[in-house]
Amino acid sequence: MTVHSSEHDLLAQLRRRAGLTQEELAERAGLAVRSVSNIERSAVGRPRVSTLRAIGAGLGLDDARVGELLDFYRRRWAQPAPERARAEPAVRVPAPEPLGPAGAAPTQLPSPPSTFSGRSEELSALDTVLTGPGGGHRCVVLDGPAGVGKTALVLAWAHARHDAFPDGQLYADLRGSTGRPPSAEDLARQLLTDLGIPDADVPSSSVARTALLRQVLAARRVLVVLDDAASAQQVRPLLPGPGACTTVVASRHQLRGLSIRDEARHVGVPPMPEGAAARLVRTLLGDERLRAAPGAVDAIVQRCSGLPLALRIACDHLVRRTTAQAPEALAAWLAEPAPLDAFRTADDAECDLREAFTASYRQLSDEAARYFRLLGVPPRTRLSRDAVAALWDLPLRTTDTILAELASAHLIEEPSPGRYELHALLWEFARETGIDHDPEPIRRAALRGILEHWATRSARG
Ligand SMILES: Nc1ncnc2c1ncn2[C@@H]1O[C@H](COP(=O)(O)OP(=O)(O)OP(=O)(O)O)[C@@H](O)[C@H]1O
Ligand SMILES: [Mg+2]
Repeated sequence: MTVHSSEHDLLAQLRRRAGLTQEELAERAGLAVRSVSNIERSAVGRPRVSTLRAIGAGLGLDDARVGELLDFYRRRWAQPAPERARAEPAVRVPAPEPLGPAGAAPTQLPSPPSTFSGRSEELSALDTVLTGPGGGHRCVVLDGPAGVGKTALVLAWAHARHDAFPDGQLYADLRGSTGRPPSAEDLARQLLTDLGIPDADVPSSSVARTALLRQVLAARRVLVVLDDAASAQQVRPLLPGPGACTTVVASRHQLRGLSIRDEARHVGVPPMPEGAAARLVRTLLGDERLRAAPGAVDAIVQRCSGLPLALRIACDHLVRRTTAQAPEALAAWLAEPAPLDAFRTADDAECDLREAFTASYRQLSDEAARYFRLLGVPPRTRLSRDAVAALWDLPLRTTDTILAELASAHLIEEPSPGRYELHALLWEFARETGIDHDPEPIRRAALRGILEHWATRSARG
């Protein structure tokens, strides 16, 4: 039996497009790996129809495409062996359906904020990674704390780079911060439908479905925005294989696994620097109000920890009043007794800072939640790893594990290796949650622990 290269083999091409190894495809098709590799290398006689059908199912192909596969091997086997080796696929590799339900490229992105400002570094990082000369990375993760502006950033970038994605822009809300995220399987169905695949052609098996998604995306220059991702596991099956598609994932979680296993690049979204925050406040309030309440910009910027969500809520308090009432409204806002009360929005949890922090906090393990609350016991300052261990009264190894969980949920930041801090509003959240939950002796013991640590350290000089 002559054995040929798999270079021109249709099955090999389809399998690679679906991002599958021979082993993975064999498992999905319920075949021995040998059956797949023999077909790809033309090391068998004409493959059985039942084998090709099983392979078609494993690849998530519809009937028409399975027909093409059968046809390809029927014709190939009709050729003399040397011809078989050189033959280009006699049928086209399944081409995507016309774009979008009505044949138009999908344009699903919500609008970015009309007042979008700042973020020049992050925008150019996205350009460099995704469309720049040394780019070509197909997946970027934008991660940062609640309300820092991840969604606004990706939308602003995507609208500005609209032309780089002529086959459309897809948007899916993965609802990671709600605690009820949809499964990758459901999301794959949604994306396939958005890409114009008829519902009846969406495979019922999750593996075949995500394989089909990769296959469809491989041929298209589309941008897929996966917003508010819950975990790497939720996103991984939706990532494109090699090809023209680009995916941007936004998440409150670091999702480091996507860099480690899936070659994603990370672009961190930190709080806005004071200058950019002040510019945003000036834009939101407008000249007239600023003249009426001259101290407003500094007062608001100082309280908002660089979080655009906080800045917008704060400005809304003033904008809802007449210009003449602005000074009074500012004074009332500054006089809120609990700092987070100044960032409430009664009828919309998505515009309430405490709610946003609570959503992230609720996803912590019980242990991490308990130690997070203790971070609000000492005054807010940058803490060494040793100081945190003293505060928590834990060995360093356990301290590291908990710090890693908090950092990965952006409920603590590590601005330099081994140094940790909470921004002021998050520290306030830890403090008030601790006061609500933890008995006073526990908080006092934690305070004693860290004070003793600091005293010993300063005694040592
Ligand atoms: N650079 C910006 N310029 C102007 N407004 C912004 C900017 N970034 C964010 N905003 C506004 O701040 C608010 C919060 O931003 P956004 O929803 O993007 O945050 P997020 O990080 O995605 O939050 P979450 O973690 O809840 O998903 C929104 O009203 C948004 O329009
Ligand atoms: Mg968001």
